[in-house]
Amino acid sequence: MLTFENVTKNYGNDTAVDALDMTIESGEITVLIGPSGCGKTTTLRMINRLIEPSSGHIYIDGVDIGKTDPVEHRRNIGYVIQQIALFPHMTIAENIALVPTLKKWSEQKKDERVDELLHFVGMPPETFKQRYPHELSGGQQQRIGVIRALAADPDIILMDEPFSALDPITRIALQEELIEMNNTLGKTIVFVTHDIDEALKLAGRIAVMKDGKIVQLDTPENLLRNPAHGFVEEFIGKDRLLRRPELIQVRDIMIAEPVTISPKRTLTQALERMRERKVDSLMVVEKEGRFVGVLTAGDVLDHFGRSMVVSEVVRTNVNRVPEDSNVSEVLAIMSTENVGYVPVVSDENILRGLITRSSLINVLGHGVTNGGGEA
Ligand SMILES: Nc1ncnc2c1ncn2[C@@H]1O[C@H](COP(=O)(O)OP(=O)(O)OP(=O)(O)O)[C@@H](O)[C@H]1O
Ligand SMILES: [Mg+2]
Repeated sequence: MLTFENVTKNYGNDTAVDALDMTIESGEITVLIGPSGCGKTTTLRMINRLIEPSSGHIYIDGVDIGKTDPVEHRRNIGYVIQQIALFPHMTIAENIALVPTLKKWSEQKKDERVDELLHFVGMPPETFKQRYPHELSGGQQQRIGVIRALAADPDIILMDEPFSALDPITRIALQEELIEMNNTLGKTIVFVTHDIDEALKLAGRIAVMKDGKIVQLDTPENLLRNPAHGFVEEFIGKDRLLRRPELIQVRDIMIAEPVTISPKRTLTQALERMRERKVDSLMVVEKEGRFVGVLTAGDVLDHFGRSMVVSEVVRTNVNRVPEDSNVSEVLAIMSTENVGYVPVVSDENILRGLITRSSLINVLGHGVTNGGGEA
């Protein structure tokens, strides 16, 4: 765990970082985001002691980093920046093994590590090891910059807009690799970006900074759902939530009181009810709201004229979702099952609500849902 305690950095009369308190969990990607000049890089560089705080303390697992040897400290922390500077006269292998060399690893251990890391980012060692940086594309060089930061297996990796100079395809590839890497290696990563979409994609938690302070530190989901501050909302963009269906919970957009009917009612009564409430399907529920299934107008009409009751016609093999599932899961059900409605039920199978195509369209706009008819 990485803890900032009342950390301030002044330059003359200017305050770059202002009494910052922050806890960064181990094994997680924490993203620092905020407008230019808000103190992101300064915060990052205080972690590896390239900059010393004017006041306050930073702790790694309870140890005050101000009391460590700065050079040794820095070797245990990976650092990747935007303009990744590989050493032009060193081979790729030598570049990657920089810190291991400083740490006096054996040649064999270094060699194995270099191979392992190159494989990790999909660059065959036999092809790339002996090349020089100018013989690599920009994206490949940036990959080397990332794995170089990993070479000596540091627990903490600091990344300052590492992908912002890359073309979109390479950026996406490296973002995926970073997520994968974090999942498999469990590194603590502090990642600075200007790009809110990148932040939402990568972060376990996001710290939104302004004027040297943290305005909100939270999961992407909470940040979008409950921005703590007008600044956060504005910075993130209000429409952002709508473009991320996986962050919208079903309970927030469901029809909370769908039209229901008891299984004991007749089809005549069911049809009457549909007409009256202007719906083309009914949620069939027993006493206490226990969900039985769905009765559609089509099913009623197919059996109409015979004196049947709802329980004889109701469709019971209906996909249902819990309230805390997300809209993208519902979209998946609608498209694979080709249904226009998905009932929302509790753990005890009590009907809580209903999602229909039209309720989704209201929230997401027309671009997101396609195919099929209205519920
Ligand atoms: N060496 C320095 N001397 C004086 N002021 C500095 C120095 N380094 C940074 N600053 C100031 O401190 C503030 C924070 O800078 P910092 O580099 O941390 O911002 P940032 O959030 O990383 O910005 P960007 O998104 O543009 O990279 C800025 O106002 C900057 O001008
Ligand atoms: Mg910066």
